[in-house]
Amino acid sequence: MSEIKQLAVIGAGTMGRQIALQCARQGFPVALFDLAASVLTEAEHWQRGMVDEWVASGALSADVASRIFDKICYQPKLAEALRDADLAIEAVPERIALKREVFAQLDRLLPADAIIATNSSSIRVSALEDATERRERVANLHFYLPVWDSPMVEVGGGSCTVPEVLDALTAFARAIGILPLRVEKESTGFVFNRVWRAVKKEAMRVADSGVASIEDIDRAWMIKFGREKPPPFAQMDRIGLDVIRDIELRYAAESGDPEDLPKPILTERVERGELGVKSGRGFYAYPDPAWARPEFLDPDSAEG
Ligand SMILES: NC(=O)c1ccc[n+]([C@@H]2O[C@H](COP(=O)([O-])OP(=O)(O)OC[C@H]3O[C@@H](n4cnc5c(N)ncnc54)[C@H](O)[C@@H]3O)[C@@H](O)[C@H]2O)c1
Repeated sequence: MSEIKQLAVIGAGTMGRQIALQCARQGFPVALFDLAASVLTEAEHWQRGMVDEWVASGALSADVASRIFDKICYQPKLAEALRDADLAIEAVPERIALKREVFAQLDRLLPADAIIATNSSSIRVSALEDATERRERVANLHFYLPVWDSPMVEVGGGSCTVPEVLDALTAFARAIGILPLRVEKESTGFVFNRVWRAVKKEAMRVADSGVASIEDIDRAWMIKFGREKPPPFAQMDRIGLDVIRDIELRYAAESGDPEDLPKPILTERVERGELGVKSGRGFYAYPDPAWARPEFLDPDSAEG
């Protein structure tokens, strides 16, 4: 397996734009594609804002920053985005039929020896591999949000993935400054998402059954585990409540257990269009969510 040098990222939403930016920051040429042309424009605007913040905070030199955007091609044509790619990372919504369709398209348009990876949060690549004619060259490559603040990626194969592909992806992860975690055995939710799933599911069950408020659950978490990082409900807002709902539906479809179905506390918000940070409201209201205010944990002023 030759080295991965040229990337294509398919889907320029929350994750695709971050993965593409991380690759470009580390010097990899990347073509970013989305079905919606407006999303590509929005993604570029967002990425430029992010890079400006890094430069302003001193995290990145102006010199390096100036070269990042030479590496990213915002490509509205899928065939062009894939033409020279060694690796295509799919980051489209968490729906198995859609991902299978995208895998089939990628298989038709990519060079024969290119790797197809999915950034899916919960779908095993073995559920997608037979949509392609290259089952030995597909993998799960699961990044975490925000990609540069949670610099780990889970790397795992399907039923036919050859070890060389996983080695190439592991080397690639290191080359873009992200810690690879090898998933030795296929597992829905991979490594950390299995742990995170237990946390988010239980947090929603506690709130949904009226045992405690969303805010108090998050307060308890922050007091125990740290005040700087978003607690469970705030983290779900960052991920996107529609994405969380889709992941929960996937787990429920797999287990067949109605207890695994998403609870009203989540589905009602999604139905109202309250999707978290990206829509301005989710479990909290943005841009100034209550959980991030100093008084949130103040014993005298904290309210439910
Ligand atoms: N949001 C997270 O924190 C997170 C973290 C890790 C993994 N993931 C996974 O990454 C994937 C994407 O999630 P997201 O949060 O970026 O979703 P998103 O909804 O923000 O973005 C998805 C993008 O895909 C585009 N799209 C839809 N159909 C397409 C197609 N056929 N071809 C090309 N583009 C298409 C949409 O226009 C949209 O811009 C999902 O599988 C999700 O489970 C998400």
